[in-house]
Amino acid sequence: MRAFAFAFAALAVASALVLFITVGGRARPDLELADALEKSAPAAPAYQQPFDGPTPPEVQAFAGTYWIVPQETLLAYTLSAGADPVPTTDQTIWYISAANQRYLQGWLWAFTSQLPSVGYLANPMQLFASLRPDGTAAFTFYSRTSSSNGYGAWDGEKARFVMQITATDGSLAHWSYMVKQTNLTEALPGISWSITDVLAAYPIPVTSSSHVGGARARSRHAIHRHGELSGVQSQRKRHHPSPATPHTL
Ligand SMILES: *[C@@H]1O[C@H](CO)[C@@H](O)[C@H](O)[C@H]1NC(C)=O
Repeated sequence: MRAFAFAFAALAVASALVLFITVGGRARPDLELADALEKSAPAAPAYQQPFDGPTPPEVQAFAGTYWIVPQETLLAYTLSAGADPVPTTDQTIWYISAANQRYLQGWLWAFTSQLPSVGYLANPMQLFASLRPDGTAAFTFYSRTSSSNGYGAWDGEKARFVMQITATDGSLAHWSYMVKQTNLTEALPGISWSITDVLAAYPIPVTSSSHVGGARARSRHAIHRHGELSGVQSQRKRHHPSPATPHTL
């Protein structure tokens, strides 16, 4: 009987040992793998500063310029399901505030006579563009509430952009030239306002610091942008505010 009890106890100890080894054995490879990974995996990659290359003079020339829709391409269409497309007057103004390498940044104001979803437009929206060496360009127009992409090209010979945009929600389609506007007090095609009126009613908001390019580009832009913005502000001070809502033709 005693021998049986001893054998039983021995069996129990052996089982416990087997269990210990099994459980321990099961856990151990994971730990070893984690250890191995910790030893062999490199730390998170370190990044060099964004490449701070030169901005081509022809791209730099866009900084500080205004672009508008000429009379001939004011026609856009607003679209809503179940209805015919509605011919619409769409004057859009760009202000390109800064250039870095082949990127442009700035602001966009849109004045559209018929817009089914008026809430989608913020004036101004932010503008960001990349300009390929062959002249083709991709634009993003964005605000806190929406964003749309536009595609087109810079035509150096005619000194104008050719643009095509479909609003993200499908509510507006417009192809247009964008031509440089230097007279800031002249009424724009399609609306009774000038650029000075637009800036008085919808000033350029203050944004957090520019992230185009690296640290050196940032400070360069900050200086540039400050110059541009203070130019705009001094114009605005001279100008008395216009009617609260734009009158579209
Ligand atoms: C700018 O436009 C205004 C209003 O049409 C006009 O009176 C003025 O002469 C223009 N300035 C230039 C430099 O063309």
